[in-house]
Amino acid sequence: MAGSINTPTPPVGVGQPLWLLAELTYRCPLHCVFCYNPVQLKQASSELTTADWVEVMRQARQLGAAQLGFSGGEPLVRDDLEELVQEAHRLGYYTNLITSGVGLTPARAQRLKDAGLDHVQLSFQDSTRELNDFLSHTKTFELKKKVAQTIKAHDWPMVMNCVLHRHNLPHVGQIIEMALDLGAEYLELANVQYYGWAWVNRDHLMPTRAQLQEAEAVVQGWREHIGKQCRLLFVVPDYFEERPKACMNGWGSVFLSIAPDGLAMPCHNARDLPGLQLPNVREQPIADIWQRSQAFNAYRGQDWMQEPCRSCDERYKDFGGCRCQAFMVTGDAAATDPVCSKSPQHEKIVEFVRRAPERRQSIPIVHRSDPQPCARA
Ligand code: SF4
Ligand code: FES
Repeated sequence: MAGSINTPTPPVGVGQPLWLLAELTYRCPLHCVFCYNPVQLKQASSELTTADWVEVMRQARQLGAAQLGFSGGEPLVRDDLEELVQEAHRLGYYTNLITSGVGLTPARAQRLKDAGLDHVQLSFQDSTRELNDFLSHTKTFELKKKVAQTIKAHDWPMVMNCVLHRHNLPHVGQIIEMALDLGAEYLELANVQYYGWAWVNRDHLMPTRAQLQEAEAVVQGWREHIGKQCRLLFVVPDYFEERPKACMNGWGSVFLSIAPDGLAMPCHNARDLPGLQLPNVREQPIADIWQRSQAFNAYRGQDWMQEPCRSCDERYKDFGGCRCQAFMVTGDAAATDPVCSKSPQHEKIVEFVRRAPERRQSIPIVHRSDPQPCARA
């Protein structure tokens, strides 16, 4: 693991990596059809050691990182998670565990609480056992409900997440009721973004505009009904928008993702982008990676932009959208995000949405597969 930090003064215009995402492993007991992990998981089989992760956290903290998300895959499959949380807490991070809940026994929850874990985000796939278990290809629905009780019992804020798509959008009211029953203080209803396995399954997941409008109206009705009892966040899918999201808040701006094999990425989906020389924390200090590497500078600022972004007065707001989406849809990672109605390739997005019902008739839905042996829940 590359150790020292000899470059405390960043180059002009480079900020701090405020948000560190530690993807501890790609192993996962679930097989979700919308998982954002890379489809080619075999490329990432050798995981960083405990000592490597401690060094990553130390260097990133020194560089200014304040929030640390432990993610995966399922981070609970790492039996050193408590040790990593304890070290993160000691370094002064605000720590967040992003989990399916599988493996969060009361005993383990207590150990993580004692280690200083600040926050747990629990995912559900749906409000019904049938769809939850179908989408994840596991029998985990009842277990997740027990884990929700465990989270409450350990006095963490109850934060739930449910990825929305064609199959569960009609259940959004029941999903909210379930969250309220389980005592959630925050519910993120995140319409699926088409990366990783969700890109493979996009025709099956693509909703209709009518489904989205109905779901949004239901969410708004619940907001008015419950007030501040539970905050409901409804993240609209950008395929149905005229402007792209400000992905990663701008490339190399605040977000630093470290993959299980040590690859450092400005976005957790950057592995497949062509032309990027992704650095590895095993070989290079994080300050060098963040400030000077080709990959982190490739789409920083505005110099890389093509028209229409280059002369667009909205470029400081959305930074030209998402590089991964631009590549997947147009084949050019530097293109204007085709979600934008100003993009000359916007019609491709319209076409994806329009043709999804017909295309899904002839292709199967694919569950995420994992090349590493791991226990099914
Ligand atoms: Fe954003 Fe580019 Fe569209 Fe302008 S043209 S709104 S900068 S994506
Ligand atoms: Fe990679 Fe948007 S998901 S830049």
